[in-house]
Amino acid sequence: MSLPTHEQLTAALATVHDPEIKRPITELGMVESVQVDEAGVVRLTVLLTVSGCPMKDTIDRDVRRALGAVPGVTGVELTLGAMTDEQRAELQTTLRGGKPAKEIPFAQAGSLTKVFAIASGKGGVGKSSVTVNLALALAAAGRTVGIVDADIYGHSIPAMLGIADHRPTQVEDMIMPVPTPSGVSVISIGMLKPRRDQVVAWRGPMLDRALVQMLADVYWGDLDVLLLDLPPGTGDMAISLGQHLPGAEILVVTTPQEAAAEVAERAGTMASMLHQRVVGVLENMSYLVCPHCGPEHRIEIFGSGGGARVAATLSQRFGYDVPLVGQVPLEESLREGGDAGKPVVESDPTSPAAQVLREVADRLDARGRGLAGRQLGLTPTAKF
Ligand SMILES: Nc1ncnc2c1ncn2[C@@H]1O[C@H](COP(=O)(O)OP(=O)(O)OP(=O)(O)O)[C@@H](O)[C@H]1O
Ligand SMILES: [Mg+2]
Ligand SMILES: [Zn+2]
Repeated sequence: MSLPTHEQLTAALATVHDPEIKRPITELGMVESVQVDEAGVVRLTVLLTVSGCPMKDTIDRDVRRALGAVPGVTGVELTLGAMTDEQRAELQTTLRGGKPAKEIPFAQAGSLTKVFAIASGKGGVGKSSVTVNLALALAAAGRTVGIVDADIYGHSIPAMLGIADHRPTQVEDMIMPVPTPSGVSVISIGMLKPRRDQVVAWRGPMLDRALVQMLADVYWGDLDVLLLDLPPGTGDMAISLGQHLPGAEILVVTTPQEAAAEVAERAGTMASMLHQRVVGVLENMSYLVCPHCGPEHRIEIFGSGGGARVAATLSQRFGYDVPLVGQVPLEESLREGGDAGKPVVESDPTSPAAQVLREVADRLDARGRGLAGRQLGLTPTAKF
């Protein structure tokens, strides 16, 4: 058999993507040298962005697999090295595409990424559960999805996705989001602070800086959808979001309860004051499927009508349709999935909750990528 050509090897290596940056390693300056001897053994050095890169096993495996598939290759001797500071600086320039730092890509005119912020009036209504499940459902539908966990009080997103112990890789002052096994890119405010207990002291300006950091310093690449898990209520983070990402659309999560519905309305009103469009209301913990009768008997543990009420109130207040986009039942598998780091749309995809969440994801997705339907800041603000 003839020896593999350099072109064949390069083409094979180009199929290997850096798991964090999601671009071919050949484009990122990560392949330092490739040689092949007369026996067909390929010797190469691949430079990791940082030594001890958490993704090195993945890269190792993918490189071996790609080269092993080239006809004539009889063996692969792979050395994993680390980039020098200069090489990292070069990579950073490549990634920025020549643009200056500290720009929020999603706020640029012509950005095609749909941004949805998941908001609620109060805590514990299932915002984070909704965020991770929508993200995975969108990813399963073929979208490139990122999550910003901006909830200073909770930051439970990484645990729900099984990446609680992961820390983002940093390339100079650019941060790589942590990829989940299903390819969703995640940054959590909890990953940015050195110690867990530091969070209590965070105030407005610090939160603002943290949000900008998560949006501008993180290399998101070309996302179809970005989901933000906001802290509950109408606080500083919501204001920062309104300033930095006025094009974000808000999904309000509430429970069927009367009191929860009222606070959810406030969260929705706040969004509108910041000129953000509320895309819909999602009612969570709506009912329990009766274990005896099955789906036709819904036990309404937390009352009923909260979601519909919030949707009606916000529609009236804003003068556009704010639909109730779904009612997610209470389900043990949803909680278990979150606790186990495997959200219900993946762990129990046929469950009623997973089905509703997938429908909601489809609905958000159907709003399409691009500028259509986006609020351009001209719509009158809500009246009180
Ligand atoms: N539909 C549901 N069925 C069963 N359990 C649920 C459901 N929705 C959420 N839970 C559970 O309720 C708890 C709170 O949910 P979650 O953390 O998603 O809410 P949150 O609004 O993000 O809360 P926080 O304000 O603490 O961030 C979690 O243990 C979660 O697993
Ligand atoms: Mg949460
Ligand atoms: Zn029953």
